[in-house]
Amino acid sequence: MEPTTTSDPAPAHTGDQSREQWSSKIGFVLAAAGSAIGLGNIWRFPYVTGENGGAAFVIVYLACIALICLPYLLAELALGRHSQKNPVGAIRAVAGRTPWVIVGGLGILTGLFILSYYGVIAGWTFGYIFKNVASPDTTFTEFIATPWLVLPLFVLFLGFTAAIVQGGVEDGIERAAKVLMPILLVLMLLVIVRGVTLEGASAGLSFYLNPDFSKIGSEAIVAALGQAFFSLSLGMGAMVTYGSYLPEEENLLSAGGWVALFDTSIALLAGLMIFPAVFALDADPQAGPTLVFDVLPGLFQQMPLGTVVGMLFFLLLSVAALTSTVSLMEVVVSYCMDEQQWSRSKSVAVVTGAAFVFGFPAALSQGISPALGDMSWLVGEGGVLGATDFLGIMDKIWGDISLALGALLLCVFVGWVWSTADAAMEIRSGEGAFAPGTARLWGAFVRYVCPLVILVVVLNAFDLFSYFGLFD
Ligand code: PFF
Repeated sequence: MEPTTTSDPAPAHTGDQSREQWSSKIGFVLAAAGSAIGLGNIWRFPYVTGENGGAAFVIVYLACIALICLPYLLAELALGRHSQKNPVGAIRAVAGRTPWVIVGGLGILTGLFILSYYGVIAGWTFGYIFKNVASPDTTFTEFIATPWLVLPLFVLFLGFTAAIVQGGVEDGIERAAKVLMPILLVLMLLVIVRGVTLEGASAGLSFYLNPDFSKIGSEAIVAALGQAFFSLSLGMGAMVTYGSYLPEEENLLSAGGWVALFDTSIALLAGLMIFPAVFALDADPQAGPTLVFDVLPGLFQQMPLGTVVGMLFFLLLSVAALTSTVSLMEVVVSYCMDEQQWSRSKSVAVVTGAAFVFGFPAALSQGISPALGDMSWLVGEGGVLGATDFLGIMDKIWGDISLALGALLLCVFVGWVWSTADAAMEIRSGEGAFAPGTARLWGAFVRYVCPLVILVVVLNAFDLFSYFGLFD
């Protein structure tokens, strides 16, 4: 969501004086939470948790959020507000023309690639609003293997996104999201109550809440970290861009804290909604990306007014996905406008076209084209971190690895090139406390803890330690 222009914008540090700003802190928190809360929470979190063993994975995930993502989120927000620029411009504003600018470029590319396959899944979500009425007997596997359904739905969803980003200031979606997101929360609570009271649900609760750490290996840890970055929209500069619209008097610490809290709560609730039902309905928790789409309709059928509840649920999920695709597209568009001096319309048209080109094979990879559905011919039997279909491979490369890598490099940039002292000053410039002790602790996390942990996790995921004969 774009911010609204205030009549009296706070002075920019390095940007122009007329830069748009959020009308209020609530406006920022809602827009940033809108970016963060999406398919990542409700579709991706449950299936990644299911694939990686349940409760133990959730604990690793929560540790990643608290110890790595929260300090890193503050670094992105501080960089954005200080420079008042998109990720590439922000790095240039702080460090001049150095190779570090490439890190911003990587973020822009990542945004484009995530948008491409995320749009495909968002299209399925949109289609599911009507599917159970129009064709209740079609299974999910059949649905996503029907080209005349998935391709138009994907195009339609990209079109919605483009229309909103083209509009610039969108009071409409911001206001809609303010109303619709709380409704989504209430609906989730209702569905949870039904799910946990189903016969056989307790096995699901135990899978989700009783940790078994023997299930945690290096792939699970990289998946937890990747999921945490993905869910909070971190590692590609989205929060640099959104932070760049924040007025100077706002407290970055509490703004960031609220966003992380909302996002994590919704993800945890999504797990609570899915797993009891998975076990009660005899589904496979390791089903992967199809999990939520397979299980939820079965759960709705067990509810009074199930058809209406199902339609409403997928409608609200589509809106949550839309506020996320808007932020993905906005990052790339703001780069095209600021750095390439393109008009907004040209930027939106080019980015939409590019997202379509890369999303097209992703849409075909789920049962339409065998060559795209199983790409072991290209990536080997093991795939990329286990994925062999085009959509899955894109998700591992851009949704997990690239976000972690981007976050690693941006952390090193803020910690060592820009300096945490200046960044801490930026965080402190808002109202509220960022006590010197907290600031020092934060600095130590951004300089040492976050980069080291991310580095070890990513190297480990690719087995590079054993390659060099370490930790065998
Ligand atoms: N955070 C979004 C979700 O959980 O669905 C996905 C996302 C949006 C990732 C924006 C990255 C981003 F910049």
